[in-house]
Amino acid sequence: MKIFIDTASVKEIKEAASLGLIDGVTTNPTLMAKEGRNPEQVLKEICALVSGPVSAEVISIESSGMVNEAYELVKLAKNIVVKIPLIREGLKAVKILSSQGIKTNVTLCFSVNQALLAAKAGATYISPFIGRLDDIGQNGNDLLAEIRSLYDIYGFTTKILAASIRHAAHVREAALLGADVGTMPLSVVKALYKHPLTEKGLEAFLADHKKANS
Ligand code: E4P
Repeated sequence: MKIFIDTASVKEIKEAASLGLIDGVTTNPTLMAKEGRNPEQVLKEICALVSGPVSAEVISIESSGMVNEAYELVKLAKNIVVKIPLIREGLKAVKILSSQGIKTNVTLCFSVNQALLAAKAGATYISPFIGRLDDIGQNGNDLLAEIRSLYDIYGFTTKILAASIRHAAHVREAALLGADVGTMPLSVVKALYKHPLTEKGLEAFLADHKKANS
């Protein structure tokens, strides 16, 4: 499973990228607003740091506006993926953009039927929001599993990008359920390699080594 970082913070992206295991970046208007800077400038800086896909979201809610925004966004860098909300107008825009070879990430997906339509429209990525489903008492992992089955049955090539990941258990489940990508905040990236028994074990090994060599 590829690992994307879900942030618009250049500082966080630099820190995550230094691990050498980050395959791409996802942003959204909320993450962008937190930076308080010109979004285009932020995207240029991110794309210069990361060679993998960088998702940048449109603001328009009409297909023509989305398509025009997409044309501007892809001019910023060659690794931009245009993030489009899963609404009727968004599906129309994805169909147009995919026919022109422009990569899309269809966001705010909460059902298998939505994922079916996104794949039929030619989306490069579909982003089911698993944490937000958990928040309302549903099971985000069930949605991931169902989309995986659907895409495998019909041979859709749209990649499943597990989004709204809140903790390491979400990553584990997404990976085991066959998500192609998981996008997560820096705190979750760090939680992937930390284990109390690793730390305790290493401490004991180092102490024993010191004792034996003193
Ligand atoms: C994904 O592309 C979104 O930016 C993100 O995962 C949303 O996560 P949240 O539900 O924690 O805001």
